Parts: sequence; C-alpha cells; structure tokens
Amino acid sequence: MNVTKYENQVEALFPQTLFTGRQVVWLPECASTNTEAQHLIGENRATDGCVVITDKQTAGRGQRGNRWEANPGENLTMSVIWRPTFLPAQDQFLLSQAVALAVHDWASALLGPDGALRVKWPNDIYYGNRKLGGILIENTLSGAMIQHSVVGIGLNVNQREFGAHTATSLAWVTGRPYALPTLISRLLECLERRYLQLRSGRLAAIRHNYLAALFRYQEQHAYEVEGRRLEGEIRGVDEVGRLIVRIEGQLRHFDLKEISYVL
Ligand code: BTN
Repeated sequence: MNVTKYENQVEALFPQTLFTGRQVVWLPECASTNTEAQHLIGENRATDGCVVITDKQTAGRGQRGNRWEANPGENLTMSVIWRPTFLPAQDQFLLSQAVALAVHDWASALLGPDGALRVKWPNDIYYGNRKLGGILIENTLSGAMIQHSVVGIGLNVNQREFGAHTATSLAWVTGRPYALPTLISRLLECLERRYLQLRSGRLAAIRHNYLAALFRYQEQHAYEVEGRRLEGEIRGVDEVGRLIVRIEGQLRHFDLKEISYVL
C-alpha cells in the first residue's frame, strides 16, 4: 500500500479492499480534503480508490455551501476518489445512496443493531435526532457519464462537545474512545462493498436498503416548506434524488433547498 504520511508515523491502515485505500495521502492539515482530492485529480496523481485523510481541516465544506467544523485529531475527515465511468450522470443519486449506506453499515457494525441509527435524506448519518456525520460528493462529468467522484466524508468520532446541539459522535453515544486508523480501514471496506454493489448493477438492493435505513420514512412529522410549517409523511425518493413527501393527501417532490426537517 502506498501511504504518504507525514513525520514517518506508521499508521495501522490495513483495509481488506481491492482498490479503495490502496493509495492513501494523509496530511497533517489542509483546507479541505475534497479540495486536495480535486488537486490530485488535476495533477493526474490519483489512482481509482485513492484516499485523502487529514487530522485538521481548516476550511471544511458541507452541503448547501455550509462549513464543516470538526476538532483536529478527534474525528474522521477524508475524501475517496473513484472513477465511476459506468454511471450515467442522471443516476448520480445512486452513488450518494450507496455511500450513505456504506457509512450506515460501518456505524451499525460499531454500534450494533440500533434503530436510532438512520440515513437522513439525502445522505446525512443520524443517531436519534442528532447528526453523526455528513457526506459531500462532487462529481466531474464527461458528456453524459461521470468521470471522477470525490466522496468527502466527515464523521464525529471522539469529539464530545459541539457548537451545535444537533450534533453527536460515536464516543458520545457509547462513552468510549476509538482508534481512528482502525475505524478508517473498516470504513474503506464498507465503502468498497457498496461501490461494488453499485458497479455490478445491484440497484434494487441499494434502493431497498436505503429506504429501510431512511430517517422518518413512512412516519408523520413536521417540515418547513416555503416558510410554512406542514405535516407530512416521507414516501420515498425519486430517480434524481428528490424527497417524496405526502402532504395534505398529495405527493410532492422536493430538492434539498426546498424542504427542511423540523427536528
Ligand atoms: C454535510 O453534511 O454538510 C457534508 C459534510 C462533509 C464534510 C466532509 S469532511 C471531509 C470532506 N472535506 C470537506 O471539505 N468536506 C467533506
């Protein structure tokens, strides 16, 4: 395995994978691992499955233009580079579902079967009503197909205090600390398994598992839509990844910016 690690530190990264995490770039600090990954792609230095990890991210990026904040050295902050050239651009939500499921698989293995662990649409990982981690996928297209995907993953692991009361961590849930390198190896295995499921076209399983893990699926809850608080029931997701919610007897399809959860 090719690990670019600072200060000759030897990390116990031994993922049982075919290609994901075979090349690891581990940086003491960077603005954003997604941005670093894009640079590696631009310089033609990234193999399929290359992983960029950092101990300290100074300008972490989240969804909807938000920042991603995480205490240095306590959490998992990384990006995986894949070349899903088999995936039409119009199907890119399937990759998002596969990655969310991989993180859900990983957390389930650590926490045991626990109904509190959920994927919150589109790809947040929640424990109860609190966020355990988030995913930011940036795809580069070539015509109608995807050329590169940078899959950015931020997971709260050993951090115990958060600026937002809506966040949680593995250590907060279980009361014990975790060794990051082992967690990373297990996560890379989960990621590759779901990626191979996608690559081999087992799409019904991905769609089915995603709904089975979906936060508030088929439950009645409050949402905010166009500044109004409404009651609705999540009925599924459509092909392009919009959330389908039944509101006042009608099925409505929402983009990320069009609906927010009342937690
Ligand atoms: C979100 O929930 O808003 C997505 C957060 C994604 C954060 C990760 S941390 C590693 C990678 N690098 C970034 O700048 N963002 C992602």
